[in-house]
Amino acid sequence: MAIQKVALLGADGNLGPSVLSALLSHNFTVTVLKRASSTSPSTYPSGVSVIKIHDSFAVESVTEALRGQDAVITTVRGKGPQTDLQHRIALACVAAGVQRFIPSDFGSVDSSSQWTMDLVPLYKNKTDARNYAAELAEQNQAFSWTSLVCGHFFDWSLDFLHIYPQRRSMDILDSGEQKWSASTLFRIGEATARILLHPDETKNKIIYVQSFCVTQNEVIKAFERATGKEWERVEYEAKQYEVEEKRKADAGDAGAVENLIWMLGALDADWRGKENFAMGLLGLEDEDLDEAVRKVVEEKGLV
Ligand SMILES: NC(=O)c1ccc[n+]([C@@H]2O[C@H](COP(=O)([O-])OP(=O)(O)OC[C@H]3O[C@@H](n4cnc5c(N)ncnc54)[C@H](OP(=O)(O)O)[C@@H]3O)[C@@H](O)[C@H]2O)c1
Repeated sequence: MAIQKVALLGADGNLGPSVLSALLSHNFTVTVLKRASSTSPSTYPSGVSVIKIHDSFAVESVTEALRGQDAVITTVRGKGPQTDLQHRIALACVAAGVQRFIPSDFGSVDSSSQWTMDLVPLYKNKTDARNYAAELAEQNQAFSWTSLVCGHFFDWSLDFLHIYPQRRSMDILDSGEQKWSASTLFRIGEATARILLHPDETKNKIIYVQSFCVTQNEVIKAFERATGKEWERVEYEAKQYEVEEKRKADAGDAGAVENLIWMLGALDADWRGKENFAMGLLGLEDEDLDEAVRKVVEEKGLV
């Protein structure tokens, strides 16, 4: 059945606004779900309803909030308690008769990759949320899920991508020739909305999209063109980098965990060969890298 009414949890985070705006541009009827204690402003475009839910997100109260919704999307960080939160939301979807659940995946990397699971156990939270939804879907024919894996957010945090415009420098792994898929926030929002326009083809699947699939060498050159200056390459031998950052991550260094995610997103994230690489299905085409870099440079006031 066509999806019309969509509930979104996480509308005020890094990704949520792009998803909200794409849903509205495709004329979905949107309800934003928020924690009762949320301090983010509830000023959304007209037509968007807001439901506040007690912070405990008890399944019964979430179920009440979700009655009448066709789909639920969560764009909250997928760590610890949030994973449990997603389990409760998935259960509430089933109880309220919601057709489609899109859990908070949106990974830099594919959490089902063994390399990723070995290096960054945190990703297990994403796999858990997805597996739980898959179990529920097996038991309940009316319920289904879709996960979206998009690669690194390209226009979110340059630091996270190890791109340092202030000192015109970028970290490069090995020869910098490995291709990696990355997505702009706009692309991820759009892909999420289009999943709901194709409920049958995207049912119970991990879907992969990108804005482009590029090498680090191509990215640094694009920043050089956009800023009109030469940039410094800081080169790392990937295997040695992996070993050192893993050792630090195992000792509790959160920065090292982010470094490992950056590394995996640059070495193990070419979605083009994936079975569910859904660019064609969703009617999406690659974006232009130079254009995306120019936008980032302008928006962040770097020229
Ligand atoms: N691929 C990449 O490069 C990349 C980068 C970043 C994030 N991600 C992924 O994208 C997804 C969204 O991340 P994000 O950075 O957009 O998230 P975020 O900004 O950290 O959080 C989004 C929103 O979630 C709400 N929230 C947080 N904890 C909650 C809780 N316990 N209960 C209810 N609501 C809660 C908050 O809303 P209120 O404060 O209004 O309550 C917040 O505005 C995650 O799956 C994340 O792992 C991927």
